[in-house]
Amino acid sequence: MSEQRSSIHGQWSSRLIFILAAVGSAVGLGNIWKFPYITGENGGGAFVLIYLCCIALIGIPIMMAEVLIGRRGRQSPINTMRALVKDEAAHPAWSLLGWGGVITGFFILSYYSVIGGWALAYVFHTAAGFFSGASADQVGTLFKDFVGAPESVLAWHTIFMVMTMVVVARGVQGGLEKAVTFLMPALFLLLLILVAYAMTLGAFGKGLDFLFSPDFGKVFYHCELDAAGAEVCRFSGEPILIALGHAFFTLSLGMGAIMVYGSYMPGDASIGRATLVIVIADTAVALLAGMAIFPIVFANGLQPAAGPGLIFQTLPIAFGAMPFGQFFGTLFFVLLVFAAWSSAISIIEPAVAWLVENHGLGRISASVVVGFLAWFLGLGTVFSFNLMSGEKFQLFGKTIFDLFDYLTANILLPLGGFFIAIFAGWIMSRASTRDELQAGESIGYRVWRFLVRYISPLLVVIVFLHAIGVI
Ligand code: PHE
Ligand code: NA
Repeated sequence: MSEQRSSIHGQWSSRLIFILAAVGSAVGLGNIWKFPYITGENGGGAFVLIYLCCIALIGIPIMMAEVLIGRRGRQSPINTMRALVKDEAAHPAWSLLGWGGVITGFFILSYYSVIGGWALAYVFHTAAGFFSGASADQVGTLFKDFVGAPESVLAWHTIFMVMTMVVVARGVQGGLEKAVTFLMPALFLLLLILVAYAMTLGAFGKGLDFLFSPDFGKVFYHCELDAAGAEVCRFSGEPILIALGHAFFTLSLGMGAIMVYGSYMPGDASIGRATLVIVIADTAVALLAGMAIFPIVFANGLQPAAGPGLIFQTLPIAFGAMPFGQFFGTLFFVLLVFAAWSSAISIIEPAVAWLVENHGLGRISASVVVGFLAWFLGLGTVFSFNLMSGEKFQLFGKTIFDLFDYLTANILLPLGGFFIAIFAGWIMSRASTRDELQAGESIGYRVWRFLVRYISPLLVVIVFLHAIGVI
């Protein structure tokens, strides 16, 4: 039975390595690129507060559920779900959960790789001294020119995808263990340096204020500039959905990435403790990124709501002005690339593991197949910022990039997470989850079970209904 299951793909060599790998998956573009720009677009403090509540009440219990399902099944998410359907005598339709995750992963990786390519390009731009002494205007123009040129963005997207395929082909355990051990701490340190620099700017207080003092009017009323430059505000439940979606995205939840990493987790490691470490690390990196970026935004009179280009239009100004900026800047983008890389790897691992299990493909062929498909889908994002940015290429006022991002982060991941919670809370027997969490009937176990049965799924439903205007 499940006691004897072991993964054909190998195991992490220690409990610490599982934590490091999961932190590698969680900490990525979501924290440093996406968190600041969606916070900027959604008015700051109140959005951050809602996001933090989603992390605590939904993210933590669902991460524990996803890891425990993975470790019990010890296979790719698709086959893990099949195995648990048998163990728990559940309806076979539950296997669809694994499938949904794999498909979601393709969509996420397609645009994730493009932004990873931007970061890669910025390593070279910074190292070449493009930003030394550059003004905010010049940095903004460099960004627009860069994303406006499809050939080079396409090339960087291709390089990033090949990098991802190479590591996944070699097996995540071997490829990843060493990299994450020292790169994640280095990224953390560099963020601290950036925050220290931001403290020297006159606008540090204003930045913190934006990030941490909640103004709920700004979350419920979404304001945009109209064509004439006037501010129009409308009531919308959407920012809460975006905060919820980002909680899933940033913790790598709802699509099987954390599940597949859980399937390589040693049997004696504590899932609860590992989850806390992963969540704290991920949240700290996001908040530090915000603390570095918003003071720069305000010190230079920039717009917090600049969108996906925000970090690429703000951090280089700081690197251009601070002592040793060229060095720190280059190092920063190198570490950002590593953070993005270790996340991208976890996004395709579920699909690759499944191809190896069910189709007898070697890891190399499986990685090539999956990477190529995601690369191809990524063309839509490459062109969303240039050839296809025009209105005639938009659907619901969104570019392909916006659509993929919205569909995955705000709809598919919360949906996947909802079903993971239901499966772990209602379908799996109390004995199985208790056994996997090694918790006995402790208070911790009862709190977890209560959250995963009632609170997390209910909150997801409420946020969905609120976003479509029902409540
Ligand atoms: N958590 C990653 C980040 O914040 C992105 C990711 C999403 C990784 C989904 C795996 C699965 O950058
Ligand atoms: Na993250």
